[in-house]
Amino acid sequence: MLGVTGATGEIGRRLTRRLADRGEEQRLVVRDASRVETLPGVEVVEFGGYGDEDGMRKAFAGVSTLFFCSAKESEDRVVQQRSVVDAAVTAGVERIVYLSIIGAGPQAAFTLARDHYDTEQYIRASGIPFTFSRQSLYADFLPMLSGEDGVIRGPAGDGRFAPVLRDDVADVLVNVLVQPGHEGVTYTLTGPETVTLAEIADLLTRLTGRRVTFENETLEQAYASRAAYGAPEWEVESWVTTYTAIAAGEWDVVTDDVRRVTGHDPVSIQQFLKSLN
Ligand SMILES: NC(=O)c1ccc[n+]([C@@H]2O[C@H](COP(=O)([O-])OP(=O)(O)OC[C@H]3O[C@@H](n4cnc5c(N)ncnc54)[C@H](OP(=O)(O)O)[C@@H]3O)[C@@H](O)[C@H]2O)c1
Repeated sequence: MLGVTGATGEIGRRLTRRLADRGEEQRLVVRDASRVETLPGVEVVEFGGYGDEDGMRKAFAGVSTLFFCSAKESEDRVVQQRSVVDAAVTAGVERIVYLSIIGAGPQAAFTLARDHYDTEQYIRASGIPFTFSRQSLYADFLPMLSGEDGVIRGPAGDGRFAPVLRDDVADVLVNVLVQPGHEGVTYTLTGPETVTLAEIADLLTRLTGRRVTFENETLEQAYASRAAYGAPEWEVESWVTTYTAIAAGEWDVVTDDVRRVTGHDPVSIQQFLKSLN
């Protein structure tokens, strides 16, 4: 039995459809069963979220491989995600496939990548066999990066990164979940090429017909331009450090992991943006 968390989300929905297409039995562990698509071979169990350790222990009973979708960003995400691992240990889960992020590390410029690293280390220490899927920034987000004025703002400089489409991430995950041989492996999922934010702005202008530009903010400008949202400090820092991580070259990586696992090339940013028209 495969256990799938995050099944009401973008990655999870793509994954559960692919698993159903392959005839896999899956148990979706979700906060709201009414938001799950009806699919063959699917059992749905509700729980109270990653803070609900008792609910998770029950929901994970009988699950052999668990897809652990990283939680929505929050101040206590590290604690919540440790609870998922504790519940998986108690329930006897035999493998965890964790959705992590590129560059996960204790000193990562992107503050949330430190949370992912904590969870990876906690999974390693639990003794449960694991596979980590560290994905780059989702290409799907790029059209939404600019404000209404068509300006992408952030202190990213001319740093490069290789965005990856959610569909390609889901293609990898389905293989990793159903095939043997992925234990102990950390995949880094990227698109086929790196781009700068200025290049993204040019591509958006050329391929979508909407004029988009990139403004390379200073750190001070970046915090000031986000202050109006009234978000807590940790969250504003996570927004700003998305850009400083790009500037620092932390995500300037292209791998062939999508091809190695799925047998097909990842979709390029040009192909994706063209497909939107
Ligand atoms: N690489 C990137 O560019 C990037 C960008 C943003 C986020 N991410 C990470 O990637 C993950 C998956 O991406 P996505 O696009 O599928 O996100 P999404 O559409 O927001 O889906 C997240 C899924 O996780 C579930 N979830 C979130 N927090 C939870 C919690 N505390 N307890 C239980 N379930 C929880 C949500 O359940 P509900 O429907 O009940 O809320 C939803 O099913 C995100 O959760 C985030 O950690 C990556």
